[in-house]
Amino acid sequence: MADALFEVRGLHARPTVEQGQPPAAEILKGIDLSVAPGEVHAIMGPNGCGKSTLGSTIMGSPEYELTAGAIHLRDADISEMDPDERARAGVFLAFQYPQEIPGVSVIQFLRQAVSARRGTDLSVLELRLSAMEWMERLGMDSSFVDRYLNEGFSGGEKKRNEVMQMALLEPEIAILDETDSGLDIDALRVVAAGIREVRADRPEMGVILITHYQRLLDEVRPDHVHVMLDGRIIASGGMEIAESLEAGGYDSFRQAG
Ligand SMILES: Nc1ncnc2c1ncn2[C@@H]1O[C@H](COP(=O)(O)OP(=O)(O)OP(=O)(O)O)[C@@H](O)[C@H]1O
Ligand SMILES: [Mg+2]
Repeated sequence: MADALFEVRGLHARPTVEQGQPPAAEILKGIDLSVAPGEVHAIMGPNGCGKSTLGSTIMGSPEYELTAGAIHLRDADISEMDPDERARAGVFLAFQYPQEIPGVSVIQFLRQAVSARRGTDLSVLELRLSAMEWMERLGMDSSFVDRYLNEGFSGGEKKRNEVMQMALLEPEIAILDETDSGLDIDALRVVAAGIREVRADRPEMGVILITHYQRLLDEVRPDHVHVMLDGRIIASGGMEIAESLEAGGYDSFRQAG
């Protein structure tokens, strides 16, 4: 598609194994996805179907290797880029299970990441000012940025941090991999409201939202919903897909697929 912002074409991937080991089985078995500027795509699918693997593969995690297919951001093929280059190019991934980084504060982490993305060294003061603005918009306490990254963060705080990272990094395409448990309705609202805020500022940004929650989709209102099963997208459509999932579970899709 000529006007796609982000495109995944015939993507196959498997876990990277050590030299001399037999190759692992493919997890992604031919994924096609095309996101136009400003679109939100939701990906739903049962545990273990490959959703997080798709996110990590798009980000270029060394944990996985492409066996076929390509990933395009605007006109560039980013399939061979390392994760840092992809981040600089504007790909953002919020992990399902964010890592703690001992001794690194939120502001230090953001400074490093935002400087890398913009290609200039940002001063702490500059970053503090932008972070303050976003913390206010996202209803966060201003002391938050001085805490250590993800250390003792509640589920909701992790989500707010994730949304703030997305806001400050100004990605072209944001992939949000949401946990299906442990998040209360407030944390879901944080994600939904955060996506709305960031999109209001940057209407061209594409979003890929990985979720099990009909509820999150009710708030975010994706343009397209995809159902993933065993490493493939087996159905695509609008919100009616999420609704039929809610009603009939994945079995109806398994039979159809
Ligand atoms: N590095 C790896 N090595 C071996 N197997 C892996 C690796 N990464 C993922 N897998 C396997 O691939 C399958 C897909 O995992 P993935 O985490 O992508 O699923 P998911 O759709 O995100 O599931 P959930 O809804 O539980 O988050 C699982 O069976 C998982 O165990
Ligand atoms: Mg997952």
